[in-house]
Amino acid sequence: MSNSRIAAVDVGNDALKANFGKMESELYIPNVIARDIEDRPVIGIEELDDKDPIDNLHIRVHSPALKENNAIYRVGNLATKATNSTELDPGSSKSEEDQTLVMMFASLALDSVTNGEFKSVKNDVLEANYTLGTGLPLREVKEGKDVGYRSKLLGSVHQVEFLVTPKYQGKKVNIKFDEVKVYPEGFAAFVNLVMDNDLNIINKDLIDKQILIQDIGGLSTDIAVIRNRNVDDDKAQGFNLGVSESLEAIREEIYTKHGVELDSRREVVDIITRKNNRHHIMVKGSRTSVHDITDRILLELAKKEYRYLRNVWQRNSQTEICYFVGGGSAVLKDYLKSLNNSLDGFNIEFFEDENESIWMMANAYYKLVSDFIRKNKKEKKDEKQEVSSSK
Ligand SMILES: Nc1ncnc2c1ncn2[C@@H]1O[C@H](COP(=O)(O)OP(=O)(O)OP(=O)(O)O)[C@@H](O)[C@H]1O
Ligand SMILES: [Mg+2]
Repeated sequence: MSNSRIAAVDVGNDALKANFGKMESELYIPNVIARDIEDRPVIGIEELDDKDPIDNLHIRVHSPALKENNAIYRVGNLATKATNSTELDPGSSKSEEDQTLVMMFASLALDSVTNGEFKSVKNDVLEANYTLGTGLPLREVKEGKDVGYRSKLLGSVHQVEFLVTPKYQGKKVNIKFDEVKVYPEGFAAFVNLVMDNDLNIINKDLIDKQILIQDIGGLSTDIAVIRNRNVDDDKAQGFNLGVSESLEAIREEIYTKHGVELDSRREVVDIITRKNNRHHIMVKGSRTSVHDITDRILLELAKKEYRYLRNVWQRNSQTEICYFVGGGSAVLKDYLKSLNNSLDGFNIEFFEDENESIWMMANAYYKLVSDFIRKNKKEKKDEKQEVSSSK
C-alpha cells in the first residue's frame, strides 16, 4: 500500500486551518470561493510565477461528492477580489455545502504539490493518499450528518486541477482517502485542552471536571458541555452568531465616518487586537481614534455572547470553568472579561496566544487522527502475532 499522509483539516466558516504530515506544514486559507464561468485570462507567465500559489488558487474540481461537478473556482484570497465570491451563510450546514469540500480539496491539493511525498504516475498527475481527521459542528453530528459526509469523502477519488496558479499550472492531483475521521468540534477542543500530541493527559486537574467550551467563530458560536470526559450531546448548544458580522459593521462604519476603506475583516481584527496603536487608524495622515465605533459594536456582540454563556451555565450549574476558544474569543476577550467582572463573575478562561485559540480544532484533529493511526497499527501488529502464534 502506498504511504498515507496525515491531514487534519478544520474547515472553519471564516478560514480553513490545516496541519499535514508530521506537522511540518500547515495552511491557513480564508473560506471564500468564487465560481468562474470560463478560464481566467492567462496573464504573463513570468509575472504569474513571481506570485504565491496560496494567493492565486484557481482550480477545477472533479468529484462525485460535489453537487456541481467539474466547476472552476477561485479559492481564498484570489476569490476575495472577485465580485461573485461566496462565504458561507449562517445557518447553512457545513456537511452539505460544496464550499466545504472545495476548500478542503484545494488545501489537500496544495499540500500535495508542495510536500514532495507523493509520486506522479503520469506526467503532471499526482496520486495523493491521505488519512483525514476533520470535524463538524456538534449540531450536525447530533443530526447524524457526519455519516453521510464521511462516506462522500471516502467513497471516491477527488481530482483537483490547477489552472491559472503560479508554479502548479496544469498539475492534477487525485486525492484518495484511506480513512476519514469526523469529530464533533466541541469534543476536539476538549481533547486539545487536556492531552498532548501522544494523547497523554497533560491536564489532570481538568479532565474529570465538568467544563464548558465556548467556541466563538466567524459565523457561529458553539458551547460544548464536557462531563465524564465526554461531550454531553444533549446539553451542547449552537448559535448562528459569530464575529464576522460585527467586523463587517465596524469596517462599514469606519468608511462612512472617516472615508477610509479597510481591505478586509482581518484588518479590522488587527486594529482591535494589535499591541500598539490599538483602536486607531490613519486618516489623511493623522492618527485617528475609532474606539467609539469598535467599542460600541463589540460590546453589543459581547453582551449577546455573554447571554449564551449565562444560559448554558444556568442549565449546567455544576460547571467549574468555561474556556473561550476560536478567533472570536480573541477579539472579544477584554469585553467579555469586563462584563463578567461586573455581572456574574463566572470562572472563565481565555488563551494568551490568539493563535492557540484559532488553531485549537486543527491541532485537536491532528492529535486524534495520529492516535487513531497508532492504535490501528498496533491492532494490525497484534493480529499478525495472533495469527502466527496460532499456526
Ligand atoms: N489572530 C487572528 N488571526 C486571524 N483571525 C483572527 C485573529 N484573531 C481574531 N480573528 C478573527 O476571528 C474570527 C473567527 O476566526 P475562527 O478561525 O475561529 O473562525 P472559524 O473557525 O473559521 O469560524 P466558525 O467557527 O464559525 O466555523 C474571524 O473573523 C477572524 O477574523
Ligand atoms: Mg471554528
